[in-house]
Amino acid sequence: MTGKLVIGNWKMNGRLAANLVLIEALQADAAVQAARVAVAPPFAYLGQAAALLAGSNIALAAQDVSAFDKDGAYTGEVSGAMLADVGCRYVLIGHSERRQYFAEGHDLLARKLQAAVAAGLIPVYCVGETLAEREAGTYKAVIAGQLAVLGALAGYDCVVAYEPVWAIGTGRVASIEQIDDMHQYIREALLQCHGASGSIRVLYGGSVKADNAEAIFALQSVDGALVGGASLDVDNFGRICQAA
Ligand code: G3H
Repeated sequence: MTGKLVIGNWKMNGRLAANLVLIEALQADAAVQAARVAVAPPFAYLGQAAALLAGSNIALAAQDVSAFDKDGAYTGEVSGAMLADVGCRYVLIGHSERRQYFAEGHDLLARKLQAAVAAGLIPVYCVGETLAEREAGTYKAVIAGQLAVLGALAGYDCVVAYEPVWAIGTGRVASIEQIDDMHQYIREALLQCHGASGSIRVLYGGSVKADNAEAIFALQSVDGALVGGASLDVDNFGRICQAA
């Protein structure tokens, strides 16, 4: 174990019975137990997961948070205070699926980041370029624009997840050179907008699996992984944690 952080994003997957089986298996897995790990179930199952994970080394993460930080008439929203109340430590913000399907933009994401830290949560802020942006050569400017909203969070504990959109759920993982290049770039950009990249962990996400985790984690510029599909499979996730 190298002390890298591994976060399993279950996305919109799970049922009470299946979650119970998965969490019990995670808790029985020695590699998961020895690693720095979090899981992010859907909102509906955070309470179930919190109860099952009580006393465990596996932290709880939410997949999103409301930009509204006060309780009130915001139908369908879940506040940072609520997430903290049920035991969340981390919250994903700005995942590319939120940007793509729910048109979440910089202003909204800046508010969500503020709401998260106000509630005492650690934001896991996701950035990443599309295939068109990579092929057009504009990908670093895109990432810089996405990172700019972190400026207001200077001084807060924060995690950045670099997830090239073209590598998410596609089985097409970015090359080791591409990952290292982007992580180095993100660290430098963070120095500009956040002041001290050293206080921010930078995770890689996008088709991370047991068979590529070791090579990715060998990079000094990578502080861990945000894992989607493989986090639903105990054997795969356990071996990623082993590499971490
Ligand atoms: O949040 C996780 C990322 O979207 C990566 O998903 O591991 O299924 O490619 P994936």
